[in-house]
Amino acid sequence: MAARVLKGNEIAAGLRAEIAAGVAELAATGVRPGLAAVLVGDDPASAVYVRNKGRACADAGMFSETFHLPAETVQADLLALIDCLNTDPRFHGILVQLPLPGHLNEAAAIERVDPRKDVDGLHPVSQGRMLQGEPTYLPCTPSGVQQVLLRSGYDPAGRHVVIVGRSNIVGKPLAALLMQRAPGGNATVTVCHTRTRDLPGITRQADILIAAMGVPGAITADLVRAGAVVIDVGINRVDDAARRRGYRLVGDVDYAAVAAKAEAITPVPGGIGPMTIAMLLSNTLDAARVSANANQ
Ligand code: GUN
Repeated sequence: MAARVLKGNEIAAGLRAEIAAGVAELAATGVRPGLAAVLVGDDPASAVYVRNKGRACADAGMFSETFHLPAETVQADLLALIDCLNTDPRFHGILVQLPLPGHLNEAAAIERVDPRKDVDGLHPVSQGRMLQGEPTYLPCTPSGVQQVLLRSGYDPAGRHVVIVGRSNIVGKPLAALLMQRAPGGNATVTVCHTRTRDLPGITRQADILIAAMGVPGAITADLVRAGAVVIDVGINRVDDAARRRGYRLVGDVDYAAVAAKAEAITPVPGGIGPMTIAMLLSNTLDAARVSANANQ
C-alpha cells in the first residue's frame, strides 16, 4: 500500500499563520520582530534558502534584512558584522547561513552570535541548554522534524528512532531533542554514520527512520522496515537536463521504492524544508517577545 505523505508544507503553512497572528499582536504594542540573515559568497542553494527565509518573514509581517558579503570576506569582517547585529535593536534574531566558504571558521562565527539572538539554535550555549533539557531556542530543522511527527500523530515516545547522519545542524541535535524526557521526546535513539557497521541491520529496526546524511537516494527500500515512518531531511540538487533549471531536488531517500513500503514518508521538496523556515520564524517571534518583556 502506498505510504501516507506527510506534507510539511501544509503543516508549515498552518504554523506560519499562527506566527503571523502572534507577530500582529506584538506589532500592535510597537515591537516588530526582526531577523538578520548573513550570507557569505555565492552558493546558489544558500542564496535560495536565504531568499525563501526573507519572503517568509515578510509574509508573517516580520522585518528582515539580508547582509550579503563577498566570497573572499575575511573572518574579522564577518565577526565585525555579527558584533554590529548583536547590538542592533531592529534585529531580535540573527542567522548565519551555512555552509560558509572554506577559509572561514564556521564554529567561531556561530559562537559570536549573542545567544539571546541565536534563533537558529546552533550556538553552543543553545545546544548545551537543549542537551540538558533547559528552555532555549531549538535548532530549526530538528524541531521541524519533531513538529511534523507530533502534528501527524507519530509521538516519538517509546519508539525506536534511527537517525542516519551526525551533522551539527541535524543529526546530533535531533538525537538530543528526541531523547529528552519531555513532550515530543522520550524516544530510544540510535545514530548511524559513515563508520556504522551493518547499517541495514540497524535501520531495519527503526519505527521512525530519519535520513540526514546528504547523499541523494541513499536510503533504499531494503534499509526500511515495512510500516516504518520515514523522514527525509536531505535536499540535494541532481542534474536533470529535462528541467528548465538543469537540476531537480531529491532527498536522501529513494522516494518511490520506500513509499511503497513505509507507513508514512515526507516528500522532497515540500517536506522538512518548509518546516525549518517555520521554526526559524517561531524562534524569531519568541526572541522578539523576550526582548519586548525585558524592555518593559
Ligand atoms: N544551512 C542548511 N540548513 C541550515 C540551517 O538550518 N541554518 C543555517 N544557518 N544554515 C543552514
